[in-house]
Amino acid sequence: MSLIEDLKWRHAVKAYIPTKKVSKEVIDSIVEAARLAPTSSGLQPFKLLVVENQDLKNRLAEGSLNPDSMRDCSHVLVFAAWDRYSAERIDTVYDFTTEERGLPKGRFNDYTDFIKGVYLNETADENFAHTARQTYIALGLAIAQAAELRVDSTPAEGFDNKLVDEVLNLKELGLKSVLLMYVGYKDTDRDWLSSAKKVRVPKEDFVVEFN
Ligand SMILES: Cc1cc2nc3c(=O)[nH]c(=O)nc-3n(C[C@H](O)[C@H](O)[C@H](O)COP(=O)(O)O)c2cc1C
Repeated sequence: MSLIEDLKWRHAVKAYIPTKKVSKEVIDSIVEAARLAPTSSGLQPFKLLVVENQDLKNRLAEGSLNPDSMRDCSHVLVFAAWDRYSAERIDTVYDFTTEERGLPKGRFNDYTDFIKGVYLNETADENFAHTARQTYIALGLAIAQAAELRVDSTPAEGFDNKLVDEVLNLKELGLKSVLLMYVGYKDTDRDWLSSAKKVRVPKEDFVVEFN
């Protein structure tokens, strides 16, 4: 199967079979795809929270666009981005990279000084706008990986961010929720999109070519 076939197979599922659970191996693969996502300056400024606990899923579902999907799916993945950049966060990432690559400590100081000069002069909101954007790349890869494994999923921005942050104590972790991904197996009878044609803007309207 090619990636294109996988992407054609998937759709944003609207109803899940509550009793059908996704295996740990599959969840691990989806998480790994997200972990391998490229990020700006390689900072990986987000974490992935994997929620399988039913009580927690029920609590997170309040105020969401698709509460039934959130309750019925097997796992809810929460993409939560750094609430702001800090010198410590940037140094931690680059110290780890230099160590892992066996490079002399401080090898990237010029570069980290440069990005600190940019990010640490911005507001927390400006920082978060940037860290949050990184999560969308990881979401895309996670969705593709789920599709390759023929597991259903739904990307979701329609939820109560404040509630999710509170329930999962994200503030204490210096994080704010950005996106959710429901993972599970669709209930074909209740999922009204199951048999719907996939509709995308035609290629000629999508691409602007400069030859
Ligand atoms: C960032 C993002 C947020 C989305 N949020 C929701 C959501 O909250 N609820 C929902 O039912 N679908 C949500 N979707 C799904 C889109 O509506 C869906 O991907 C789009 O209509 C294309 O359909 P397809 O994914 O089935 O091909 C979201 C998709 C993305 C990429």
